Amino acid sequence: MCKPLFSILKWWKTYAKDTVERLCQFDRLRTNTFHVCLTGDSRNIDIFEQLKKVHPQFGDFIKKQKIQGIFSSPPYVGLIDYHEQHAYAYDLFGFDRNDDLEIGSMFKGQGREAKQNYIQGITDVLNNCKKYFAEDYSVFLVANDKYNMYPTIAEMSKMKIANQFRRPVLNRSEKDTTAYSETIFHLKER
Ligand SMILES: C[S@@+](CC[C@H](N)C(=O)[O-])C[C@H]1O[C@@H](n2cnc3c(N)ncnc32)[C@H](O)[C@@H]1O
Repeated sequence: MCKPLFSILKWWKTYAKDTVERLCQFDRLRTNTFHVCLTGDSRNIDIFEQLKKVHPQFGDFIKKQKIQGIFSSPPYVGLIDYHEQHAYAYDLFGFDRNDDLEIGSMFKGQGREAKQNYIQGITDVLNNCKKYFAEDYSVFLVANDKYNMYPTIAEMSKMKIANQFRRPVLNRSEKDTTAYSETIFHLKER
């Protein structure tokens, strides 16, 4: 039976407290590093070119030194439509939507073709990133690989799975409390 929410005060308090705690924790942990945020399709974004536009000096530095690696949480296959999940942000900030460029979006499902497109999509991302990597790069990808696609992705990207770490997912925002863990794949050049 669905009932309307009569008050959001409880959630407001919970999330407000959680946000302040996270900000304090981040403040204790953060180091004095320099960051630039680039948006684009990771299958074909020209990182050096885009960096140069945003910060020419940093762009030159990275072009010489190259990138040591990636730590990323890529999308899962057919689970979430990220544009929909964050629709309010596109609306509030006036960002252009690129729904069609989402890799593994929910509306494409989890069928054979969707999985093949997913494998190709993540492979294209890794092959694009390789152009910007230093020689002894490391890629860390957080994945719930229940269809065992990452060995194929590594193979097609000419990478090897150097290590796999298990990460238990404890505090899920969904009310579902079933034990669940993710793998962090550590990929390196083959
Ligand atoms: C699991 S989320 C991770 C988000 C963020 N990295 C984090 O850890 O909170 C996956 C993200 O990949 C983005 N994504 C999907 N296809 C993409 C593409 N072709 N290029 C760049 N990002 C993409 C999705 O929009 C989503 O934000």
